[in-house]
Amino acid sequence: MICHIEVYGCQMNVHDGEILSGILKAAGHIVVDDAKIAEAVFVVTCAVREHAETRALGRVTHLAGIPGKKPIVVLCGCVAQEHGEELLRKMKLIDIVIGPDAYHRLPELLQEQRRVAVTDQGIEDYEQVTAVRKQFPRSFVTVMRGCNNFCTYCIVPRVRGRERSRPADLILREVEGLVEAGYGEVTLLGQNVNSYIHNGVNFPKLLEKVSRIAGDRCRVRFVTSHPRDLTRELASVMVSRDNICNQFHLPAQSGNDRILKAMNRGYTRNEYLDKVAMLKEVMPDIVLSTDMIAGFPGETSTEFEDSISLLKEVRFDYAFLFRYSERNGTSALNISPAVPVKERLERLSVLQDLQAEITMERSKETIGRELTVLVTGPARRPGQMASRTMGNRLVILESLEFTPGDLVPVKITKADGYTHFGEPLSFLSQ
Ligand code: SAH
Ligand code: SF4
Ligand code: F3S
Repeated sequence: MICHIEVYGCQMNVHDGEILSGILKAAGHIVVDDAKIAEAVFVVTCAVREHAETRALGRVTHLAGIPGKKPIVVLCGCVAQEHGEELLRKMKLIDIVIGPDAYHRLPELLQEQRRVAVTDQGIEDYEQVTAVRKQFPRSFVTVMRGCNNFCTYCIVPRVRGRERSRPADLILREVEGLVEAGYGEVTLLGQNVNSYIHNGVNFPKLLEKVSRIAGDRCRVRFVTSHPRDLTRELASVMVSRDNICNQFHLPAQSGNDRILKAMNRGYTRNEYLDKVAMLKEVMPDIVLSTDMIAGFPGETSTEFEDSISLLKEVRFDYAFLFRYSERNGTSALNISPAVPVKERLERLSVLQDLQAEITMERSKETIGRELTVLVTGPARRPGQMASRTMGNRLVILESLEFTPGDLVPVKITKADGYTHFGEPLSFLSQ
């Protein structure tokens, strides 16, 4: 069968899309980029905010409506897990609903050709599957799945199940294969990588082992870290190994202690700031990013000020800013009073404006610096290549002489927040 896969949501979903592709290929199906010729379309959905959910369901309607014979429509991912059977009843266009732990059943379900919803939540870790990676020279490797944190606003623990860590030797074997295949970067994935634990191997130890196997030609990153579980041991491993990236995504969510408590985040503002200070102390050139939620239930405008001041104090390089979105089955729904949507949006835009300035300033601070970038592929404009620094900043090279996977020393010449321009140094010295 000719299949087309579309992915929404976080990096875990992106990699699940690659796993899905591996499962379909192993069963003899063909996976194509063009939705118009597909006999089956797979939409891997995200349920974290209402907007993500609506967008994915909108795509389903669009794909099912492409002129020609209606393809088999398979709804995958977190929305599938959340709503299950109900989606089959409500959306006649959907043929199969399948949650993130049940993808291995797809070949069999496609053959059966009946409308079905499968939302079994097991201990699935897809060990038998060879993922079909699409982002050479960058790659994702899942180290743990699920989340036990139950932040009160978040649906992820419900749709992704409890935490389970993969055996370290399997992770290391996967990384070894990627290095042999010439990959230049591995990102270790988990909803909360810091709580990785398997047979006494914790995340810092795993990271160190991965880094040793990755060697000189392959960089190592990881997402996402929970501030509560970030330890000095992890920071020490990061500085001790040259191929571990000086990048850290550390979601704060709020800068106010009462709100952090109501969110069940397990740390105070000061504890958060101490961890950031520790990271900056051991890695002065670290590229830091965060997530923030504006308008959590009960957040007063004074409490919101604390989120503003947190952004100002830390000066993150990047921040992913969201307005609070009600999610069924989460306990924050019981907290009152709700912040009116208009107010949430206003607060969001205050954070966005502030962060845009900081991101710009931080990015301009890189001008003149000499950094080594990993070439990732063609940039959007013809004649240019895209690349990434260790800190994961996007650097455009105005030259086509490089191929994906090349490591190129460059001098940063221009920066506008998200895009930087780099002049290859070997070029300059000629
Ligand atoms: N495990 C990761 C990713 C969680 S989802 C982590 O803990 O960081 C990514 C981000 O979405 C979260 O960090 C949070 O900022 C945001 N988010 C989650 N649920 C939300 C909700 N109900 N409304 C608004 N933003 C939400
Ligand atoms: Fe959601 Fe919190 Fe788990 Fe992140 S740590 S996935 S925000 S419950
Ligand atoms: Fe979304 Fe599921 Fe990831 S809800 S953020 S795709 S784990």
